[in-house]
Amino acid sequence: MPAVLDGASSKLEKLVRQATQTDTLLRTDSAAAFLRQLDAVEEELTAPEDGAVPDPLNATIDDRLPGNLVVKGKLGAGGSAPALLVERGNDQFVLKVALKPEYNSRLRDELEVLQKLRHQFIVAPKSDLLNFNGLNAFLVDLAGERTLAGRLGADGRLSGEFLERFGDDLLNVLEYLEHEDVPHRDLKPDNIGVREYSKQLHLKLFDFSLSRLPLDNTRAGTPDYMEPFLALRPRWDPHAERFSAALVLYEMAAGTLSAGAMARARRTSLKMRSPSPPISSTRRFARP
Ligand SMILES: Nc1ncnc2c1ncn2[C@@H]1O[C@H](COP(=O)(O)OP(=O)(O)OP(=O)(O)O)[C@@H](O)[C@H]1O
Ligand SMILES: [Mg+2]
Repeated sequence: MPAVLDGASSKLEKLVRQATQTDTLLRTDSAAAFLRQLDAVEEELTAPEDGAVPDPLNATIDDRLPGNLVVKGKLGAGGSAPALLVERGNDQFVLKVALKPEYNSRLRDELEVLQKLRHQFIVAPKSDLLNFNGLNAFLVDLAGERTLAGRLGADGRLSGEFLERFGDDLLNVLEYLEHEDVPHRDLKPDNIGVREYSKQLHLKLFDFSLSRLPLDNTRAGTPDYMEPFLALRPRWDPHAERFSAALVLYEMAAGTLSAGAMARARRTSLKMRSPSPPISSTRRFARP
């Protein structure tokens, strides 16, 4: 075959030879087997020539990563792990990749947490731990076309029916996490997707990157959604999660957080606790 078709690889040659065998016993036995072999040929053809794995951190649209993953965009920068939208065939996934090898253990921890959970309103992992050029990564469900934060920002407060349904979804997840003894520690509309299930929109929680932090680290999280009195306690506890959930419920109903109420609660908290830096940013606190 290479003699008549320039550039045909040995894999492609074998694929065609097997699929067209006159002896039916030797012929590729199913369309599925043929497609599997075809995938292998495609991977070989699209692999970089020097054998290096393409860098997912610098991937652009339609770049192909190992595992037949085609990059379709970047969903978020992520302080320790950017999230890429990828496709394999007709399936879409989110690929979280560690920004640096130092963050590899965070990715491993987050994946281990997700592997223990099984809930329709929480994203499910879609791969084992992957590694691209020394950077840990994993695939996870797409939580939705947009986040709850995106929806509230674009459309404002939720109407009665959505408020009731999304409120139920959130409390359902909260109850499940408490039952499983798994903290999320960063509940906020930015970490919640809105997704359609059998023609109805529902919430889907993601970003369990703070779940495994030591409980005595009471400063990790997103300040706007953190319980102001948490810092007065020696360790994180589920009351803090309930407080964040209550703020998300409030935001769903009002369209925005009550800045006045939060500021008052914070001032009281800051007065009561030992000296610590003022909470001024809406960004997440750095991890230790
Ligand atoms: N499973 C998902 N489905 C849909 N969008 C996602 C998913 N995972 C991540 N994203 C998008 O990527 C963004 C960043 O991802 P993620 O929240 O997991 O990272 P991060 O750990 O919050 O980053 P940081 O450490 O800066 O907070 C999210 O805000 C969201 O827009
Ligand atoms: Mg996040």
